Amino acid sequence: MQDVSRRSFLRAGAMSAAAMNLPMPSEASAGSEPKLTGQTMMNVSYEAKNPRVALIGTGGRGTSLLGNLLGCDAQVVALCDIVAEKAEHAQSLVVKAGQKAPELYTRGDHDYERLVAREDVDLVVIATPWNWHVPMAVATMQHGKHAAVEVPAATTIEDCWKLVHTSETTRKHCVMLENCCYGFNETLILNMVRAGEFGDLLYGEAAYLHDLREELFSNAGEGLWRRNFHTLLNGNMYPTHGLGPVANYMSVNRGDRFEYLVSMSSPQRGLDVYRKVHLKEGDPRWSEKYITGDLNTSLIKTANGLTITLKHDVSNPHPYDRINTIAGTKGLFTDYPPRIYFDGEDPEAWGAIDRYKDQYQHPLWKNEGELARKLGGHGGMDFIMCFRLLECMRKGLPPDMDVYDAATWSAPGPLSEQSVANGSAPMKFPDFTGGRWKDRQGSPIGKEA
Ligand SMILES: NC(=O)c1ccc[n+]([C@@H]2O[C@H](COP(=O)([O-])OP(=O)(O)OC[C@H]3O[C@@H](n4cnc5c(N)ncnc54)[C@H](O)[C@@H]3O)[C@@H](O)[C@H]2O)c1
Repeated sequence: MQDVSRRSFLRAGAMSAAAMNLPMPSEASAGSEPKLTGQTMMNVSYEAKNPRVALIGTGGRGTSLLGNLLGCDAQVVALCDIVAEKAEHAQSLVVKAGQKAPELYTRGDHDYERLVAREDVDLVVIATPWNWHVPMAVATMQHGKHAAVEVPAATTIEDCWKLVHTSETTRKHCVMLENCCYGFNETLILNMVRAGEFGDLLYGEAAYLHDLREELFSNAGEGLWRRNFHTLLNGNMYPTHGLGPVANYMSVNRGDRFEYLVSMSSPQRGLDVYRKVHLKEGDPRWSEKYITGDLNTSLIKTANGLTITLKHDVSNPHPYDRINTIAGTKGLFTDYPPRIYFDGEDPEAWGAIDRYKDQYQHPLWKNEGELARKLGGHGGMDFIMCFRLLECMRKGLPPDMDVYDAATWSAPGPLSEQSVANGSAPMKFPDFTGGRWKDRQGSPIGKEA
């Protein structure tokens, strides 16, 4: 009897979705789940070695990462950029740090292929525009090197799978450089979550709310490529900064997983309004048609039933905000500014997180915080991330964040686009881990280093 009513319920669900012309979650990602390779890179250690590092992309982000890597005494052997002056500037930083001048690869868009073919490279760091991440990471792994790729790792589900398959078949790691997972607050809160301070977790909120209008219309740096994505995609094109830390709080890919999302976009207005004020008549950028809704809001459901609200807006006035909320049965934390509340406290007031610092400050920040803050890079988190990546490689540990995290945290990009295009229909996340998300627990970032 129970079975019959369950079946009728499911049928009714299918009918109402069909009546509304919406795909069911199971249909939504049909065709996007290619056969698994049967091998896994989960919990696979790096070979213990001080890696020789090459960097592709010596623009704003690449140069900043280079400074942090040099601050961690990384050996840098090769640099690549299509703009020779940028590569030369990066080369001068390596020489200033007391190392031999790294070889430069500046002969156009595909010169990275010569770099990844070198014999003397162990790790290739990729800080290029989004459309280059996957071809560069795949070529890196196919040539027997580990890859560390900027965010988002991939912009299509097919490419997420490509990274997973290449990593599994080449036995090389592909980590996504999600620096926000190493923020002071994020690592402190992760330790508190793991200690059970928030009780049973219920929901999180994550975002990338960053007024990038000036950068998007700049004639240098990201202005040369990022605005173009606003003519192509309507969804959340930069999901990982807010989502990575919340996924770690929730042990996603380590006992839980993202199951599906629904997404909505507001109208597009911000870039048009900015253009009216800042561009002269006849500027070629007037011919562009922006289609990205200014505020994209997605709602993710996990297999264990938790929910995450995920937002993206880079086109309007807004103070910088990743929201960074985690809530449970005993209390909650929310960021920007950081504040915390526990059961039994004054119900009219948030508390400061300072009182938890002594007990829960992460060892990485305890030990490396001073240098991290001095070298900078988003308040020191970039240094901590680079330090930890090199530490995992030097000590022969598995990476904190693996190719499954790179694929899973990038997937809301294309899934939100599909959902928006289909009347906010639910879109299923592929299980990039092949079911192995059940076999391990808790982000290693939360443990004693
Ligand atoms: N994690 C973070 O906090 C953070 C911050 C900023 C940017 N990013 C990411 O870093 C990446 C780079 O962003 P950016 O701000 O440095 O942009 P950028 O435009 O300043 O730098 C990109 C560089 O890549 C070079 N490039 C382009 N195509 C190339 C090719 N085929 N071969 C070699 N070099 C090529 C460009 O000449 C440029 O120097 C992006 O993925 C972005 O999302 C991450």
